Amino acid sequence: QGYETTLKAFDASLKKLGFDYVDLYLVHWPVKGKYKETYKALEKLYKDGYVRAIGVSNFQIHHLQDVLADCEIKPMVNQVEYHPRLTQKELLTFCRENGIQLEAWSPLMRGEILTEPTIVEIGKKYGKTPAQVVLRWDLQHSVVTIPKSVTPARIKENADIFDFSLTDEEMKQIDALNLNKRVGPDPDNFNF
Ligand SMILES: NC(=O)c1ccc[n+]([C@@H]2O[C@H](COP(=O)([O-])OP(=O)(O)OC[C@H]3O[C@@H](n4cnc5c(N)ncnc54)[C@H](OP(=O)(O)O)[C@@H]3O)[C@@H](O)[C@H]2O)c1
Repeated sequence: QGYETTLKAFDASLKKLGFDYVDLYLVHWPVKGKYKETYKALEKLYKDGYVRAIGVSNFQIHHLQDVLADCEIKPMVNQVEYHPRLTQKELLTFCRENGIQLEAWSPLMRGEILTEPTIVEIGKKYGKTPAQVVLRWDLQHSVVTIPKSVTPARIKENADIFDFSLTDEEMKQIDALNLNKRVGPDPDNFNF
């Protein structure tokens, strides 16, 4: 975080990757007193052509408002914890209204949501696994997902969600599982 340190860190990462540019670069956390300077560095990297899209991660509405108030380039992505136990309705609406793509981290709640009976039942109806149902729910909410798996069969499974759709009623049933429950830290009460 910070302007100069971010430019330096980006340079080191680009060299390690052996690339000329990266597709997406995000400010990982709204670190108090630093995230705006960090975001300014991302704007420079974008303008210089080193990054195709810039954005933020773990930003709440008030952090986004703070950045939007005086940024030159609007954040294109906000990557946050998002799954059926943390549906982030207000944040999702705010991002939609401001042209910011919401991206879900821990979309499977690190596996915790995969035994939830409503999701299991919906999966049976379509011959799909609970993970596929959850990822399809994300897709139908226009939320980008980054499920993580080290298991090749699961990676394939997680990508195989384009041959079925959930009904409005099923979308609502999954929305109703929200408990505002996090598996990761709360951006308003934790500072990296
Ligand atoms: N921006 C941030 O602050 C932030 C914070 C946390 C995470 N992230 C990113 O978000 C990504 C995903 O988050 P995450 O790893 O915390 O949680 P996740 O993707 O919700 O869950 C990963 C867990 O689910 C299992 N899994 C994956 N696909 C499955 C399937 N089809 N069926 C059953 N189990 C399945 C994985 O097991 P196996 O691997 O053993 O198959 C792993 O244990 C990570 O790549 C991470 O970089 C970002």
